[in-house]
Amino acid sequence: MYEQKFHSEDISGNSFLVTGGAGFIGSNIVEYLLKSGAGKVRVLDNLSEGLRENVEMFLNNSNYEFVGGSIADYATCLKNCEGIDYVLHQAALGSVPRSIKNPVATNEANVTGFLNMLTAAKDSGIKRFVYASSSSVYGDSPDLPKKEEKIGKPLSPYAVSKVVDELYADVFSRTYKMEVIGLRYFNIFGPRQKPDGPYAAAIPLFMDALLNNKSPFINGDGEQTRDFTFVENAVQANIRALFTKVEDATGKVYNVAVAERISINLLFNTLKKLTASEINPTYREEREGDIRNSLADISKAQKYLEYAPATKVEKGLEITLNWFKTRKPEQV
Ligand SMILES: NC(=O)c1ccc[n+]([C@@H]2O[C@H](COP(=O)([O-])OP(=O)(O)OC[C@H]3O[C@@H](n4cnc5c(N)ncnc54)[C@H](O)[C@@H]3O)[C@@H](O)[C@H]2O)c1
Repeated sequence: MYEQKFHSEDISGNSFLVTGGAGFIGSNIVEYLLKSGAGKVRVLDNLSEGLRENVEMFLNNSNYEFVGGSIADYATCLKNCEGIDYVLHQAALGSVPRSIKNPVATNEANVTGFLNMLTAAKDSGIKRFVYASSSSVYGDSPDLPKKEEKIGKPLSPYAVSKVVDELYADVFSRTYKMEVIGLRYFNIFGPRQKPDGPYAAAIPLFMDALLNNKSPFINGDGEQTRDFTFVENAVQANIRALFTKVEDATGKVYNVAVAERISINLLFNTLKKLTASEINPTYREEREGDIRNSLADISKAQKYLEYAPATKVEKGLEITLNWFKTRKPEQV
């Protein structure tokens, strides 16, 4: 992946800090930056969810540096912003059910950690701060497609944490004139997303089950819809956000999706076909805090970031499935 470039600048003289870079989306951003000749890519991750293999695959690259540490500690954030031009802030505790079970832990990583990173970036004079928000901020708003300007009431502590992040980012951009951009990811999937653990997402869970002849659970009737987005598109959004020169592009939040929705049942059946499996899912109760339907309007990101999602769901599922079959980390 990442043969295609989403920027035209020479980045060999630039340094990047990717928080959460041992995780799924963060390690994909790292891969893009290193393949594009970034001068320096530093990862700050406490490996609470991230994987050592997502670090090891880059260790031979002399432009890569891994720092084990928590964003919940301000001094760690400040130290790791030293000598950095751009921050891509991905570190957080994901998952709605996890946040319902342990809201304090979610708040510590997603709110305290976020504020620490934002403040450290400000105090270090970072050029631009791009951060991961989430479609969960749309909460109970029934409107479809989702437009950035109208969110609903959050349905979980996780959603609260992302709303608070956006509020802080907005205040920092206005008060301190920082260049900050938020990206509301819609159900990202792709290579290196974990299929195990209690809070795994639907696509890796389904792939893992189908490849191992097990019946996966579907929560509710399976007719809920999502705007599933291949990770390469999320990486593109981050890179375009870092370098956009479009006037007034900073100080805003953007939907990052494909602007197409499919139901969980259709997703399962597509994967069933791709794996030539005979397995059927097991239906169970709907999950608390889940949104019924999700579909993004991406016109704002198209306009200000020149974002153009290149890989559609089916192609993304094929790439991801191939990765799941081998799961061998590539050396970059
Ligand atoms: N995957 C999705 O579909 C999706 C959707 C919406 C938003 N997001 C957001 O995107 C970002 C990346 O998500 P992901 O799917 O790659 O998750 P992930 O769990 O794979 O990656 C997050 C990384 O952050 C690290 N981390 C957690 N707490 C930390 C702390 N206190 N200090 C340092 N590192 C810490 C974890 O170890 C992990 O490596 C998160 O902010 C998440 O909320 C993801």
